[in-house]
Amino acid sequence: MTAQLIDGKKVSKAVRQKIKSQVDERLSQGLRAPGLAVILIGDDPASSVYVNNKKRACEEVGFVSKSWHWPATTTQSELLALIKELNEDHSIDGILVQLPLPEHIETETVIESIHPDKDVDGFHPYNIGRLTVRMPTLRPCTPYGCMTLLKHYGLSAKGKHAVIVGASNIVGRPMSLELLLAGATTTVCHRFTDDLQSHVALADILVVAVGKPGFIPAEWLKPGCIVIDVGINRLDDGRLTGDVDPAASEVASYVTPVPGGVGPMTIATLLENTLLACERHQQ
Ligand code: GUN
Repeated sequence: MTAQLIDGKKVSKAVRQKIKSQVDERLSQGLRAPGLAVILIGDDPASSVYVNNKKRACEEVGFVSKSWHWPATTTQSELLALIKELNEDHSIDGILVQLPLPEHIETETVIESIHPDKDVDGFHPYNIGRLTVRMPTLRPCTPYGCMTLLKHYGLSAKGKHAVIVGASNIVGRPMSLELLLAGATTTVCHRFTDDLQSHVALADILVVAVGKPGFIPAEWLKPGCIVIDVGINRLDDGRLTGDVDPAASEVASYVTPVPGGVGPMTIATLLENTLLACERHQQ
């Protein structure tokens, strides 16, 4: 079997075009453009690339993006003071604090300090809680982006066995909530899971987000399964590769390539969340 590639670049482009036309429509009605505040603390090179991509994507769809790049020595109270100001700023609809933060700053405290209505990453416990009880509003970007990909390819999760490998707050846990909401039977595997292979073998939909190149061998997969590979790993020769063996495309029915699969969807979903936050924000 040769799997069909799930083209995240193409789907992301379609989402971004739709957002741009919604922004144009707002402007033609005399409404203001959505505003996103992007905060980067420190000089992690990967984070700088992600943040620049997010700012560029905002500008391309007509959002206003404002950014703060502060040194790694920034204190937690300085960061909390900035977030408080942005929570009260009516020109700002979304606040994004790029993770990871320097070790002396408590990530949970920072996430909880963002007003839930401006939490366009969907990481605030309030927004995660809403997703848990089937009342989603602002949803974590990468998992929701994966759901958009499935939908675009007409792939229903209803009644399927979805296995998620990786239980992070950013991807694995909210991914399990999205798939449960979509009617899948879900299994979440993590570092303490015994006999990972036996779980993977039962997956109709396999989502892998562990950050280890080729972590899941193609031989483990159920023939015909759908593989959503969230990993983006740089090899010594500079190439990017996912968490699943590329030979998966000989066993699965659909696979997301790396790069060009899930990656572009994270930003597209961030833009969707920011537009939604703007529409819900009355001023
Ligand atoms: N670091 C890695 N992924 C993400 C993300 O989706 N949002 C933020 N804020 N930081 C990240």
